[in-house]
Amino acid sequence: MPAVLEIDRGRMARQAGIVNRDAAVMAVVKNDAYNTGLPLAWRTFREAGIRAFATTSLREAVALRELDEHCSVFLMNPVTEFDVLRENRIDMTLPSLPFYERYKQLLGGIGLHLEYRNLLRRSGFTDADEMEKVLHEGIVQVTGIWTHFAFADEFGLNEYHQEKEAWLGVLGRLSGHLRNIPFIHAQNSASYMRDGLLPGHSHIRPGILLYGARPYPELGESAVPNILTLRAEVIQTIRLRKGESSGYSAAFTADEDCTLAVCDIGYGDGLLRTRARHDVLINGKRYPIAALMMSHLLVRADEGVRAGHRVYLYSDELRVDHYTALGVGANSEQMSALNRMTLDTMIKE
Ligand SMILES: Cc1ncc(COP(=O)(O)O)c(C=O)c1O
Repeated sequence: MPAVLEIDRGRMARQAGIVNRDAAVMAVVKNDAYNTGLPLAWRTFREAGIRAFATTSLREAVALRELDEHCSVFLMNPVTEFDVLRENRIDMTLPSLPFYERYKQLLGGIGLHLEYRNLLRRSGFTDADEMEKVLHEGIVQVTGIWTHFAFADEFGLNEYHQEKEAWLGVLGRLSGHLRNIPFIHAQNSASYMRDGLLPGHSHIRPGILLYGARPYPELGESAVPNILTLRAEVIQTIRLRKGESSGYSAAFTADEDCTLAVCDIGYGDGLLRTRARHDVLINGKRYPIAALMMSHLLVRADEGVRAGHRVYLYSDELRVDHYTALGVGANSEQMSALNRMTLDTMIKE
């Protein structure tokens, strides 16, 4: 039996409802909704009252529109398939003054969100004067204004405060134009959890907060209930004598007589090598991983472990955000690595 990725949709729905009750959410559903599956995430968030969705891919934006005639869809990356945007009523970022100058005559009928570059410096207008030019000309339909903070997840640095102040300054400068703009948004999960909804904002724009991992470890676990369980099975156990090895190129060599549990999951299923530096849970007991292969995992087990026993890689006890804190990789990195083509997905309602 393949390894199983279980997604707790019930918890996901409760969390989305709680977050959306306190601040209107534009849910970030990029990368197949952080690899939980776009249709599942959309349905769950929609039932929880969320009406606005953001992604970086035009394909996902169109898929959202096909799922939902009425929701707001915001494309965070610029594209030039303007007809597709119009046909599907997809709002798009307006990423820079040069983009605007080049395409302004072709953008009719498309809702655009002016993007402020700020300290992320990935994309966006450089200052309020540039943005004011667009608003003043009145050629295109501006339905939103937004930025993305580069340092909201970092504590102990001054940059988050700087970028927040710069952004609030831009909003202040443009306030005369913003009265009828329905989407004013900047905050990812960390920014929202740190500051609540910033003044003058219509929406928050969280991702990870809706997908079961804390954006920073200082938050209590109950603020973001885990939604993922990843489990495999022990295929068989083997005994190794001291000095014997197992796996390709002697991936593991026994320093004493020992038992290994061979499990049916590997890096081909999206398990990060950095995750394999840490334990698994079998029958409520932690065991270290001895070697990670493409489709197999060797766990240094004991006599209590038998074929057929379940091996947990992620669960309520082994949260994705625990491993983020241990340096395994960002929450979203661990989640998006999981291979939904090879894993069986189960949905817990
Ligand atoms: C532009 C933008 N907004 C919001 C988010 C959501 O961030 P988080 O998952 O930290 O809430 C992301 C995620 O990378 C993003 O790229």
